[in-house]
Amino acid sequence: MSAKIKTQNSKLKTPARNVPPRWRKEVERVLITEDQIARRIRVMAREIERDFRGREMVVVSLLNGTVMFLADLIRHLSLPLRLDFMGVSSYGAGTESGDLVFTKELRLDVRGRDVLLVDDILDTGKTMSRVLPKIRVLKPRRIKICVLLDKPSRRTEGVEADYVGFQIPDFFVIGYGLDFAERYRNLPFVGVLHPHVCKQACQRINEVEVRKSSR
Ligand code: PRP
Repeated sequence: MSAKIKTQNSKLKTPARNVPPRWRKEVERVLITEDQIARRIRVMAREIERDFRGREMVVVSLLNGTVMFLADLIRHLSLPLRLDFMGVSSYGAGTESGDLVFTKELRLDVRGRDVLLVDDILDTGKTMSRVLPKIRVLKPRRIKICVLLDKPSRRTEGVEADYVGFQIPDFFVIGYGLDFAERYRNLPFVGVLHPHVCKQACQRINEVEVRKSSR
């Protein structure tokens, strides 16, 4: 059974005053609070437990953005499981995905096992559509995809998740593992990046590109 969980969270319009003072210059608003995340993960974990009970489960987590989600999710899974990581990163300027680079391969044998593939966000789907064939050739019994966030409006690839924490609109989100230019992963909530941070960073990147191309 693979019930798809989709949460259109009606309480996502949290006002800017909810942003802790330390982060107000960089975070426009909190989109999903710590409490909302914690509650949703408990529900997702119950669903996953039901679907994976009695199976040899391997959790495959994509580095680096899954760090917080993974830690919180698996501590609520009362099933015997093995854990492994794949390193995959898109190196692009600003907030757009660039080329994908694999930085770590799977180490555990997944042949004949049930794989739970965990990522922080399903955006265009390019990452998943590159990762899935790499796992499929290893002949697992089945692969289920679990993501905290889903941005369906950005999808360019035909890939969907089996377990979704929150469907979100097309905001650039940071925190709870998600980064902008490798920062903000440590925020305990999911927030919307302040557009001026993005503008400044993109301007810096463009200046570097211009300097490089004029050499
Ligand atoms: C982010 C995120 C997903 C991917 C989703 O990874 O963690 O893996 O982008 O985007 P997509 O659906 O458009 O492919 P990123 O490459 O930024 O690496 P990170 O996990 O280290 O932040």
